[in-house]
Amino acid sequence: MKVEYVSDIEVLADRAAALVAETMREAVEKRSRFLVALSGGNTPRPVYERLAHGPYANSLPWDKAQVYFGDDRMVPADDPESNYRMACETLLDHVEIPPWNLHRIPTEYSTKAAARLYDEELRLAAKEEGVQIPAFDLILLGLGPDGHTASLFPGTPAIENDTDLAVGIRLPQDSEGARHAQERVTITYPVLNAARKVVFLVSGDDKAEALRKIQDGDQSLPAARVRPAEGEPRWIVVGKP
Ligand code: 6PG
Repeated sequence: MKVEYVSDIEVLADRAAALVAETMREAVEKRSRFLVALSGGNTPRPVYERLAHGPYANSLPWDKAQVYFGDDRMVPADDPESNYRMACETLLDHVEIPPWNLHRIPTEYSTKAAARLYDEELRLAAKEEGVQIPAFDLILLGLGPDGHTASLFPGTPAIENDTDLAVGIRLPQDSEGARHAQERVTITYPVLNAARKVVFLVSGDDKAEALRKIQDGDQSLPAARVRPAEGEPRWIVVGKP
């Protein structure tokens, strides 16, 4: 795995924003569109803010971006816990993306229905390209202290699911995320592993142990099982090797 260590969150934001911009330009040049899945959590906030302001805001081909989400909590779209809301506030409300290019997880439905609808939405994206599973140009992910990524948490059936493109999950009571909304919808390994590029953005000392296990090849952590066919995931990590 390719890990780049950076000194602080500001440097992470600079590096990640540059990587998103480069990937977007390249995808638009080659395929006339940029298929991206955003991550939630706190780490990507400053990355999105970088992209929303300054040179990136005006120079990138935002109208060619098709924006999806790796996961979301089953809360209203304007709830403070919503990943969609966070992405809008930090990035999507500030750049020229047509609203029909925003593919949020429809959290106004039941968890099961939202997962099914998102699965269909992802299959539609794939169909437009004549494939079964969409090949995202870029999927951004985070890492939880328990090794979760997107909402693929240890011990949940979602991590064994290799047929659906999106699934609903209910977090175990004792899991780290359960202090927040317990029900979520997440994309699955088939989507993650069909991506052209996957980038993990990691900050926080509480992730060090999980990261070390993943580097040691411990496949029991959900994030360790992200293995895109086209190339190993890149990691940008605040900290020291
Ligand atoms: C979410 C994501 C989750 C997140 C990690 C890391 O919270 O929406 O599902 O996978 O990326 O928990 O979060 P931080 O960046 O806040 O550490």
